[in-house]
Amino acid sequence: MASRRTAAIARSLSTGLAGRRVFCNHQARNPWREAIRAISTSPAPNPGASDASAGGSGSRKRTFNVTKADAQPTISKHHKITFDDKRVSVPWEEGKTSTFQHIWLRDHCQCATCMHPQTKQRQLDTFSIPLNIRPSLVEPRDDGLYIEWWGDHQSQYTWEWLHRHSYAPRLEKYISVQRKLWGQEVANDLPTVKYDDVMASDAGVAEWTSKIETYGFCFVDGVPVTPEATEEVVQRIAHIRHTHYGGFWDFTADLKMKDMAYTNLALPAHTDTTYFTEPCGLQMFHLLEFEGTGGESLLVDGFRAARMLRDEKPESFRTLSTVRIPTHASGNEEVSIEPYTPFPVFNHHPVTGELVQVRWNNEDRATMDRWADLEDVEKFYQAIYDWNEVLKRSDGEFRQQLEPGKALIFDNWRVLHGRGAFTGHRRMCGAYIARDDFHSRLRLTNYGREEILMGL
Ligand SMILES: [Fe+2]
Ligand SMILES: [Zn+2]
Repeated sequence: MASRRTAAIARSLSTGLAGRRVFCNHQARNPWREAIRAISTSPAPNPGASDASAGGSGSRKRTFNVTKADAQPTISKHHKITFDDKRVSVPWEEGKTSTFQHIWLRDHCQCATCMHPQTKQRQLDTFSIPLNIRPSLVEPRDDGLYIEWWGDHQSQYTWEWLHRHSYAPRLEKYISVQRKLWGQEVANDLPTVKYDDVMASDAGVAEWTSKIETYGFCFVDGVPVTPEATEEVVQRIAHIRHTHYGGFWDFTADLKMKDMAYTNLALPAHTDTTYFTEPCGLQMFHLLEFEGTGGESLLVDGFRAARMLRDEKPESFRTLSTVRIPTHASGNEEVSIEPYTPFPVFNHHPVTGELVQVRWNNEDRATMDRWADLEDVEKFYQAIYDWNEVLKRSDGEFRQQLEPGKALIFDNWRVLHGRGAFTGHRRMCGAYIARDDFHSRLRLTNYGREEILMGL
């Protein structure tokens, strides 16, 4: 357990934040899910997609760096498809040969009886397949591989599907997000979309969600200054995630809510809802009214800050990737929320080892009375002092006074937010969206349903 974790973190240290754009063939299990989780840091050249330039309109895949699988994989003209007792071998024109075991092929039959054509759910009774099942006939046809099984079932798999899902070896190339890490200079070229575009079409939502994924935040310009219009625009991405504070919120400074967010005090950079097992994915803010002073908003790119900490203080980065911090939300009488287990500040993908989530809210940290090692206590304080110092560097801070009509949405797994103290009257509205709902919309609007389902 410990060694696997250490290995994952070591991989992350060496590659995770270093700008890998495309997975090696053997590393990714599901190109869609994992590529979108991957961190890519540098504005690298764009070999796979001519339509991938940022800011274009109308075309898909605009801010993703895409290296597509061969559009139409074809089988070799020179080598035959063969099978033996255990497996079918499919030689491709590109020179590689995929091996598929019989039980796997039968279990993954794509026919309408075995796999529901719309829901893509398995309808086949897997356990009715004899473990030693064998084909009686294996035949290449124009549109794919045709197999007849002893026991009277026929299966057909398109070449594209077989190529996409080849597991020995993995073949396809991957679609990878090109995340752009930013510091204060992001203020010169703010990721922004127009309210009218977002409301008018899914192409507008594709542009919006891909900017959120690329930068970790995006402004929406021209939102009518009402809670109703704000709620409508956020729901263009997905339904709102409710919490103990409700669904869509609309508030002025109000200590009835028993949370510092509802006061007029300064809030240092933090992520929200660290007290949930799954912190909220996106958060939207829309300033509706403000008469007073102060209260400017603050954003910090947590992935960039993590990379700096890793490079400058690797020991502290490691500590914050391993030491688990208990958190809670207990201000209101009727709740005392805790995650099922404490989580570290930096959470890494269990397969690729890449950083996928920053959780940091020093206010919501509960008593830390469980330590794996006594020395971790001092190491932990050193690490959070180092982290705090990186987060407060002015070159990483984007500060701006929010304005009515300009809504801000950001990725709460990546970007930390805060605000200055303020005086006067300030009315803000907004909402949370769960990360999986955001990613579903991101992928479907940018790639289309057919492409996504092919990858399942
Ligand atoms: Fe917050
Ligand atoms: Zn079937």
